Amino acid sequence: MKQPLSFLQCIACDRRYEATERRFRCDCGDLLAVQHDLERLAAAHPDLRGTFERRLATMAPPHASGVWRYHELVLPDLPARQIVSLPEGNTPLYRRSAVERFLDLDQVYIKHEGENPTLSFKDRGMTAGVSWARHLGARLVACASTGDTSAAMACYAAAAELPAAVLLPHDKVSVEQLAQPICYGARVLALQTDFDGCMAVVKELTADGSVYLLNSMNPFRIEGQKSIGIEVAHQLGWTVPDWFVIPVGNAGNISALGKALLELHQLGLIDRLPRLAGVQARAADPLYRSYSEGFARRVRLTAGPTVASAIRIGDPVSFDKARAAVQRLDGVVTEVTDADALEAMAAVDAAGLHICPNSAVAVAGAGRLRREGVIARSERVVIIATAHGGKFSRAALDYHLGDAGDRRNPPLTIEPTLEAVRDALGLTGS
Ligand code: F0G
Repeated sequence: MKQPLSFLQCIACDRRYEATERRFRCDCGDLLAVQHDLERLAAAHPDLRGTFERRLATMAPPHASGVWRYHELVLPDLPARQIVSLPEGNTPLYRRSAVERFLDLDQVYIKHEGENPTLSFKDRGMTAGVSWARHLGARLVACASTGDTSAAMACYAAAAELPAAVLLPHDKVSVEQLAQPICYGARVLALQTDFDGCMAVVKELTADGSVYLLNSMNPFRIEGQKSIGIEVAHQLGWTVPDWFVIPVGNAGNISALGKALLELHQLGLIDRLPRLAGVQARAADPLYRSYSEGFARRVRLTAGPTVASAIRIGDPVSFDKARAAVQRLDGVVTEVTDADALEAMAAVDAAGLHICPNSAVAVAGAGRLRREGVIARSERVVIIATAHGGKFSRAALDYHLGDAGDRRNPPLTIEPTLEAVRDALGLTGS
């Protein structure tokens, strides 16, 4: 048999396990990462850039996917026949001068991950996670979620005809997010707790491997999520911006982005490393608090209500991976208020890009870092918008129909007459 290119490695004690072992923690209790033998990988594929370029010419699965185009960098040992792909990825990198004016930055790109099949970035990790689950012969997959992971898992499990169970914090996900796993046929369990409480239960449920865990604690999910960073570098002609700005909840996505950039750099696909800015909502900011203390200790807290409900997490599972990514990429962590996030959301939406409140946290964070002089006006910035605004209509309407925002755009209810319409449009009187 061919020697595998990937293995599992503990992030604390470096102990290695075979990638096909069904485990989500090291015996020492710490997190595992999928590590690839990059030297052998580079030797086996001397022209990865050329391979990726050539695949852009195909519309056929799996290489038309914005994850599996980069198969060798994602899960090189996964046989193509096991891939469960919708496809996903290939999300636009938008540039809007209205957003640049709003942020007082010369060059801003919004990587709109909301334009994935289930309307969030989670599809990238889930195509990898569900494919690996199928490869291992899993019979039932499960996750805890603030809404988007469960939507993606339910969708990919349905595509793979795998039974799925999702654990959601009761009454703390948006109505659209709740509808998704229900419609995709997953077993939906609403637990009378918060996300951290759901996570604790799902860890126990999946501890012996009989139920396959698909939270981002599963390191194969992280490998799929790396493709956001790879795809951005590809879209920018194998260059990187000065900054990536990304919202942080359970801290899997920032860890994946950091891992992607470090690997691209090691493989020589990019020639320098960008900086990383993680942004949290003030009501749920353990990574920020820890960063503010020079990462002297891991902060765990009870997250309070925030309009950014998908990142309402007090004890992020991938805390240690995120800290390492921030440190290795000369990163920063900041936090923003709900009011600032809502203004940022309204500004980006009005530029024609419909983003969610969690994404808006990152946009507002970029604004804060600009105002504080951490990001210079001339620096090139990529902001990861993690989900679509269409998943959070209530939050958008509450803003526009409320009385607090600077960018409110409430609809008018008027008489059904031409006169009333002309009046409302300011077309009368001249
Ligand atoms: N943005 C959105 C829209 C999310 O759904 C999440 C996480 C994040 C940002 C943060 O990413 O957790 O990797 O730091 N949602 C998870 C879920 C927790 O269950 O859907 P992260």
